Formats: sequence, C-alpha cells, structure tokens
Amino acid sequence: AGASVYNNCIGCHQATGAGIPGAFPPLAGHVPEILAARGGREWLIQVMLYGLQGQISVKGASYNGIMPGYGQLSNAEIAAVLTHIATQWGNALPAGQAAFTEAEVQAQRGKNLTAQQVLSTRQQLGLR
Ligand code: HEM
Repeated sequence: AGASVYNNCIGCHQATGAGIPGAFPPLAGHVPEILAARGGREWLIQVMLYGLQGQISVKGASYNGIMPGYGQLSNAEIAAVLTHIATQWGNALPAGQAAFTEAEVQAQRGKNLTAQQVLSTRQQLGLR
C-alpha cells in the first residue's frame, strides 16, 4: 500500500528516495534521523498533513522549497507512505518504533498548521 501512495512523491523525491540535490531533499538515509529525534515521528505526520516551506538543511545541503500538504489522503494512506519511506532504500525504523498507525495520523489532524509553522517546529528537532 505504501509503495503505491509513494507514487505521489516520486516526481520530487525520486524512486530512489535520493531527491534532487539543491531542489528536493533526500528521504533515503534521512528519514531515520528524523524519527530518532524527539518529536520527530509526530513532526513527520505534520509534514504530510500540512506541508513544509522555507529554508532547511539536510545533511549539510540547503533547500528552500515548498512541499505540498497531503491532508486529502486518508489516515491509512498517510500511515502507509510514512512506514514506506521509513523502511525503503536501506532506511529502518529506530529501535522500539513500529509502523505508523491511522490513530497517530488522526491525532495530528485539526491542528490547521501552516507550512511555515511546520518549518519552525522542525528547528526544534535538532537536525543538521
Ligand atoms: C520535504 C516526504 C511529496 C517537495 C519533505 C520531507 C519529507 C517529505 C519527509 C521533510 C524532509 C526534511 O525536512 O528533512 C514526502 C512524501 C511525499 C512528498 C512522503 C509524497 C506523499 C513531495 C512532492 C514535492 C515535494 C510531490 C514537490 C512538488 C519537497 C520539498 C521539501 C520536501 C521541496 C523541502 C521543503 C523545504 O525546502 O522547506 N518531503 N514528500 N515533496 N518535499 Fe516532500
């Protein structure tokens, strides 16, 4: 299921998860470090629901783009695609973490965050 939902993402993040340097950040080799950060799991759900906009650094490279929100997808689809990107291309869920659930996604709905607010929360994750 997650692989088919990921078809929404490949135009930017690519089938390999490598992204496009300078334009679209990689998910391969990167999603686990987001999940390992305190609050990272909830924050990933917020990226899916509300998008992300503004300057970020991923593995020392700078991006300043717009990630669209996917709140129109179902809770099950969002949970599936997040589990997919957490487990593809050599990525693995951190120890102690299980697949994303519909209930976890539902818990982040109704916050009506802007993509800029999702950016400011990212700064609390301590990614570099
Ligand atoms: C950022 C996943 C679709 C463009 C991100 C991030 C994740 C992600 C997890 C956060 C990376 C980080 O902050 O370290 C996904 C998934 C998608 C998807 C699972 C499909 C459901 C897309 C599409 C585009 C896109 C279609 C292009 C139209 C971007 C950009 C960023 C980003 C530009 C960085 C935003 C910024 O510079 O602030 N994506 N993405 N994504 N994504 Fe996506």
